[in-house]
This record gives sequence, structure tokens and C-alpha cells, in this order.
Amino acid sequence: MCGIVGYVGGQSALDVVIAGLKRLEYRGYDSAGVAVLADGGLAAAKKAGKLANLGKVLDEHPLPAGSTGIGHTRWATHGGPTDANAHPHLDNSGRVAVVHNGIIENFAALRAELAERGHELTSETDTEVVAHLLAENFSSCGDLAESMRQVCRRLEGAFTLVAVHADEPDTVVGARRNSPLVVGVGEGENFLASDVAAFIAHTREAVELGQDQVVELRRDRVTVTDFDGAPAETRAYHVDWDASAAEKGGYDYFMLKEIAEQPKAVADTLLGRIDEAGRLALDEVHIPDHVLREVNKVVIVACGTAYHAGMIAKYAIEHWTRVPCETELASEFRYRDPILDQRTLVIAISQSGETMDTLMALRHAREQGAKVLAICNTNGSTIPRESDAVLYTHAGPEVAVASTKAFLTQLVACYLVALYLGQVRGTKWGDEIGSVIRELSQIATEVDKVLGTMEPVRELARSLADKNTVLFLGRHVGFPVALEGALKLKELAYMHAEGFAAGELKHGPIALIEDDLPVVVVVPSPRGRSVLHDKIVSNIQEIRARGARTIVIAEEGDDTVVPYADHLVRIPATPTLLQPLVATVPLQVFACELATARGNEVDQPRNLAKSVTVE
Ligand code: F6R
Repeated sequence: MCGIVGYVGGQSALDVVIAGLKRLEYRGYDSAGVAVLADGGLAAAKKAGKLANLGKVLDEHPLPAGSTGIGHTRWATHGGPTDANAHPHLDNSGRVAVVHNGIIENFAALRAELAERGHELTSETDTEVVAHLLAENFSSCGDLAESMRQVCRRLEGAFTLVAVHADEPDTVVGARRNSPLVVGVGEGENFLASDVAAFIAHTREAVELGQDQVVELRRDRVTVTDFDGAPAETRAYHVDWDASAAEKGGYDYFMLKEIAEQPKAVADTLLGRIDEAGRLALDEVHIPDHVLREVNKVVIVACGTAYHAGMIAKYAIEHWTRVPCETELASEFRYRDPILDQRTLVIAISQSGETMDTLMALRHAREQGAKVLAICNTNGSTIPRESDAVLYTHAGPEVAVASTKAFLTQLVACYLVALYLGQVRGTKWGDEIGSVIRELSQIATEVDKVLGTMEPVRELARSLADKNTVLFLGRHVGFPVALEGALKLKELAYMHAEGFAAGELKHGPIALIEDDLPVVVVVPSPRGRSVLHDKIVSNIQEIRARGARTIVIAEEGDDTVVPYADHLVRIPATPTLLQPLVATVPLQVFACELATARGNEVDQPRNLAKSVTVE
């Protein structure tokens, strides 16, 4: 939530910062602003609404050229999305500018204190106090990095701050607690941003900042300390994707591109993790085998789409390893005093690696002695840093707010973890597992096949654009798939959409069925668990008898469903537990097309931000 950029170097800071903000707009799009140091002073502009609004302001009132600058794109927390509340915030002298991501919890007390000393605060934000505190502090110590350290020691809450001061023209200073901040290291120029995407067009060399660190950026130097001024350890890394990965590449929306990239993302996440003998090689999971053998409970914590991946993982883990597994919404987890100990393995799933609810859940788990394994898509982000081990998904940058390729790769990573646990513990390690691994290694091709057959799904979506409600049903792993289908539709098409376990239908939701109500049903494979299949076929008949318009997602060759399907979407035959990898794709396409047909902004749905860094 909120995107931050800072730049110092030889280029136009404004150009670099605006280009960076464009790539970070997925983090929040309530308002945007920039500040540059130029001609011995500081010039700033900010505007409510999307970045394009700020662009118009800058066209009408250009800022002077300067080579040090900062910028912000906001997802509002304190104070509505107005011009005054947009960042950057300046002190009364107009010589300090600050941008912020997070929440400063003690801002009211600090604000009162500043007011008593004669400061005039003009916004409703928590951020503005920082500009004033920095200005005050700078006037006594004359050093922006030192001022930042002193101010940070007074702040409570989660904050990433980036600031400039007109009296230190070639310096950008940043501070990080909880919310993300990464350094981009260039030649004679350096960058700061919430995400490497902001500077990937300039450099792929990054430095990860740790918790409670302050960074001072000059053209030729990056200095990192803790909040007390002691030199801090950092980790440098090379970003393994380039600027083109963060472009739309000819697609109308990032979401369309990201849906299309799924076969590659799935294949990349599997790459090098299954050896020639069909065994799993997860060397990066640094939790020793003897610890994994001792695990007597697995708890998965995640939010939103990642939570749905976790729900599917529960079926796989319990079936393949016989270890009890719970999947829990990260936002609920620590508040119910969960029972955890050294023999609990907690799996934290997060695309961004920055979701605050998930981070807090994993911290709570570690405090209770549990081992935490992160499944994450973002190198160097907070969740993997704070976990005992990490299995990275290799989806590449996901820019669209609605998660698609990250979900499929989270599923792949969950299957890998489940199978690996089975391998290490020797449970159920037999023919079934061998064949699942073989099928998993081929699954990218199956996802590709689904993508090639999506035109009828798009047509169907367009024909339903004026509906108000769509229901989704599934059983077993089809249930979380139904929830995911409903979530996609809610967030993109702004429609009432709900997912149910098909067996629950008769316990209440069937009352919702009325004439021509679209109901999407995810049908499990008729092979193997045919009882499950037969039961859902009965459920389809029950809803159809009450007037529902049935949209049936069923495996190729499953003819039993044909008489009851008003619309039939075919997916390739896969083992039951792997079916979500192919069954989710039509639901993503369906939601994307419906949103487009309703004239919604696909990549930036209203009220949302991609990376939810507040609780
Ligand atoms: C939905 C979506 C969100 C995220 C959730 C967790 O399309 O994208 O529900 O899945 O906010 O985000 P991460 O995975 O970054 O922790």
C-alpha cells in the first residue's frame, strides 16, 4: 500500500520519479505527488486521484529541473484522498519534504506537541508530523540522516519514510520499519523504492533494507545504519527479471498478460525442483529434515487469494503426508491465541511478502516456537526475511491488483512442499506420489491448453454483464476454487459473487437460486473419487431444477454433466488435487472479461491496493 520512490543522480529526478511511480501505481491510486530539489530550494506538486491527474498539474505548472527527488502514490489511511492529504508533506518553511507508507500510531500526541511549539499542520494525515519533526531536528543537527534516526526513535507503528531537505541537495534519506523499502544501486545514481519495479529500467542491482534501518543515498554512496547510527548489515542481490517483465507487452491490461504468462510462471516455479529420478530437490528449504520429520501439525496463514491457495494446500498436505493441517486467515490468527509449539510448521503464503496481517501472524508463530516456511514471490521482502526458510515462487512481477499467476505458482509451491514433506517423512511415498509428480511436471502444458480455449468463456462473460449476482460451487479442492472465482468477480466486476461448498447448498444458500441466476460449478474428476463427482452432478441438477443457469467446468470426457450444463467449459484431465491449476484459469478469464464488459478498470479496481501493508 502506497508506492514510494526516491532518486539522486545525474538524470532529471522528476522524470525518474514519475516513471517509477507509474510502475508502483498498483500499490495505491488515491492520490500522487512529487518533490524535487532545485535551485537551492524545494518544489513540490500533488493531486488527488490517479497519477494522470498529477501529470496534468505538472504540465500546467512545471517544476524546476533538479536531480534529487521523491514521489508517492497513495492508498489513503489517515485522511481522505484529497489534495491536502496527498504526499509529499512539507514543513512550514517548505524546505523538507516527506513521503510515507504505513501508519504512525502515536501521531496524535506528536501533532499536539508540535502545535504547542507553534507548528501549523495543514493536513489530516499522520505523515505531516514527520516533516515538522525532521525540520526541527535538522535545524539543530544539520544532518538529514541523523535527523531521520532521531525522529524514527520517537515514532510508533509501521512506517517507511523517504525525505529530502533543500539544505542537503544531493541526498535522499529513507527509513524502514515493517513496510518495504529497497535500494537500487546505479552508476553515479541511486534509487529508493517500495518495489524494484520502480527502478528496474535503470538498474537490476538492489540492496534489501532490514527492519529499523535508515539509509542515506548520495550519487556515489549508500550508507545504511540502524536507528541508533550503528552501521547495519544489508543484503545485495541481482533482480532476475528486466524492465520488459513489468510492461504490458502489447496486452490491454496487466491482468491479461499475467493470465497468459501462467504456463511459464508454473514451469519456472517447478524448474530445478524435481530431479531426473522424480524426487523433489528443495535445497533452499533450510529447515533440516529431522525437524520436518518431527512436525506434528501444519498451519497455513495467508490472506485473500493466497488464503485460497492455502486451503487447497491443506487437502494436499493431509492426503499426502497424513499430518494434520489447518489453514487460517492471517488477520484472525494471532487474535485467537492459537496452539503452536516447536513441532508446528507454519507456512506463510504471500505474493508480495509484505502483507501486514501475514507478517504479524508469522511473528506470532515464531514467538511461540513454531518454524515458519514462507512461500513468496518477492525476493528480499519482509515475510521471507523473517521466516526460517523460504520457497520462492517464480511468477515474475505481478502488477495487476487481482492475483492470477501468483496464485497458480503458490499452488505449485504448496504441492512441492506437501510432496517434499511426504518424501522426507516417507509417508504415502508410493505410486500415487510418483504419478502426481510426473503430472505436476507436465502441468504447465495443460494450463496452456486451457488458455487456448477461452473464447467461449469470454463470450459468456460478456453476455452476463448486466447480471447482479453469480454464485460459485465446488467440492473438495473445487471449493476453494469456487471461493477464488467469486473473489475475482467481486474485486473486478464489483458484482455480488459468493462461493459455496456444494454440499452446504441445501443448508441455506439454495434459497438464493432463482430463475436464470448464473451458477458456476467446478466439477471434480469422475475418475478416482467418483462419489464426489456423483454428488456434485446431483447438486447441479438440484439448482437447475430451481431455474439456475448452470455454467459447468468439467474435465474433458466427462459426459455425465452434459445434460445439465447450460454452458460447459472443458478443462484437461488432471489428478484431483492438481485440478485447481487448470480449473481456476477460466474463472480468471471470466472475471476479467466481465469487468471489462462492465467498463471497470481491470488492473486497478476501486478501493484496492496490491500490497496490503497495514492491518
Ligand atoms: C486478490 C488478491 C488479494 C491478495 C491478498 C494477499 O486478487 O490479490 O486477495 O491475494 O491481499 O496478498 P499477498 O499474497 O501479497 O500476501
